[in-house]
This record gives sequence, C-alpha cells and structure tokens, in this order.
Amino acid sequence: MTSTNDIRRSFLDYFGSNGHDVVPSAPLVPYNDPTLMFTNAGMVPFKPYFLGESVPPYPRATSVQKCVRTLDIEEVGKTTRHASFFQMCGNFSFGDYFKSGAIPFAWELLTGSQADGNFGFDSERLWVTVLGDDQEAIDIWLKTGVPRERIQSRGFADNYWSMGVPGPGGPCSEIYFDRGPEYGREGGPEADEDRYLEVWNLVFMQDELSTVRSKVDFDIAGSLPKKNIDTGMGLERMAALLQGVDNIYEIDTTKIILDRASALTGVEYGRDEKSDVRLRVIADHARTCAFLIADGVLPSNEGRGYVLRRIMRRVVRNMRILGCLDPAMGELIDASIASMSPQY
Ligand code: ALA
Repeated sequence: MTSTNDIRRSFLDYFGSNGHDVVPSAPLVPYNDPTLMFTNAGMVPFKPYFLGESVPPYPRATSVQKCVRTLDIEEVGKTTRHASFFQMCGNFSFGDYFKSGAIPFAWELLTGSQADGNFGFDSERLWVTVLGDDQEAIDIWLKTGVPRERIQSRGFADNYWSMGVPGPGGPCSEIYFDRGPEYGREGGPEADEDRYLEVWNLVFMQDELSTVRSKVDFDIAGSLPKKNIDTGMGLERMAALLQGVDNIYEIDTTKIILDRASALTGVEYGRDEKSDVRLRVIADHARTCAFLIADGVLPSNEGRGYVLRRIMRRVVRNMRILGCLDPAMGELIDASIASMSPQY
C-alpha cells in the first residue's frame, strides 16, 4: 500500500526536483493575517508574495500545508471527501511559470508511472475543468493530451478561486478522477462531483480583489504585479484513491484514530451507517483538535478558541452517543499524535 506519507514525499520530491524550494508547513494560526481564522489553503503563507508586498526568496516553492476549514463541517463523515483538517499539497510560482508550466507538471505527476515516483493514474479516467472559454488553458490541456470531450467549462462559482476575502484571486482549472459508475452519474464533474472526485486545483493567480461578497460576486481592483501559480492537491483524497479505499476516513492515517474511537466505544465500524458517520466525525475532529492545540489554540468562548471548543464538543457528544461515557479525549488525541507524528 502507498502510505499517505509516501504520497506526501513523492509530491515534494517531484516539485523539488523541478526547481521548487521545499517549504515546511506554516502553523494553522495565520501569521499576521487578521482576515483569516485558520490557515485554510497552501497559499496562505505566501500571500504577501502574490500581492507584491514582499519579495519571495525563491521563484518557485512547494509545500504540504496543514489546513483547517470549518465551513462544510456538517458534511464531515457523511460524504466521502469532506474534512475539517486536511493537508494540501501545493506548488507555487511567484511570477515564474504560468499556465503552460503548471498544467504539464500536474499531468506528469498524476499520470507518470509509479516506478518513476509518480502516481500512475489511468489518464482516461481524468477530467479537467476551466473557467468559461479560457482558451489558453484549453489549448494547453489539449497539447498535454487531454481530449476535448473531457475538458469542461464551468462558471465563476466553480472555476474562480479567491480566499473569500479581499486579496489575490484568479481563474482556475481543476482535475477530477472518475471513480466509476458505482459512485454516480456519467457526464463529468459538471454532472456529479461524488463520482468525479476533485483531486487538484490549479489557480492562475493574476487578480487583486478589493471586495468579495460571494463566490460569484466580487470586485477585481486590478492585476497582481505578476502572473502566479497556486495549486492545491488534497493529500487525503489522493491517498483514498491510491490506497483503494472508499473515503478519506479510511486511509491509513485517519483509520488509526477511527479504530481507537471504535475500540473505546465498542462500536464496530462498517455495521451501521449512522454510527459509521459518528466514528468518522470523531476521527476527523479529534485530529483537528490535536493540531489546533499544538499550534497554540485553546478552548474558549470567542474566536478561534470557540471554534475549537465546538469541535471538541462534537467529539465528546458523538463518543457519548456511541456509548463511551468515560473521558476519551486524551486517548483520541494520543491516537492522532501516533498517526501524524511521522510527518509532523
Ligand atoms: N488555493 C487553491 C485552493 O485552495 C489551490 O483550492
């Protein structure tokens, strides 16, 4: 089995050997950025470079960034792909290469042979999307070898990326893997994002946004000083595909925590969908707590601390519903540490 840690290593090695500086993950509490609750994307630590506020020490970088996102917290455990804590593999160009560099890099790593350290995906199961009629991106995809019928055009809601607040943004091109008919309808990502799992988002970071009211309603104040690349590949999603498991909660690293929750509650995983959802929520959330606390957040009744407190409550509540009335947080945090310490 390809471990999550091996996938992480392969990603960094690939971009490292293609001229990128390998940069360690930044903390979950963004340094000097009051607009953000938590680091929620790989690009967050690099924001001043995109905006031209400071000069990057390297033209290209790569990282695997720990991220917390709580917007979709109600989806965690119910779908195959939502998490409150996840790791985003990214490659970044600060005014160096643009679309014609980023697209072939992603394609080579995804479809190149595993013997050469790549991921070895069957290229016929990969689909891509672009913003509207981004002909430049379409042409590069065609040249890279993706047939026209597997390139779909979508609108701003899906194919324009911003931080959700004023700052850098740009059109994006996303790569999806077709998991097969047992996961949903045919017709590409436009038809079904459970069957076609988004694995990688390539953002062509070129605009500076002055206001962001929603995903489709924002003002572009002007162009960034340079054309940049920001990408995000979900490490856990990639692990689920490469390990051949159904969802991100069953990959090696998360399963360790899930199994601990199962042992503590005496509830076997895989017998009942409702308790499975609870076990997955516990596994996801316990790790989020461990990482937030490690980065200095403590439970409280406001701001980041309140988010942590709510996540901890959800762990405790689900453990109790599953029958574990004894204090269990410490055990779940221990399992999270055991699972993640090889990487952190
Ligand atoms: N910043 C982009 C994202 O979070 C890559 O999807």
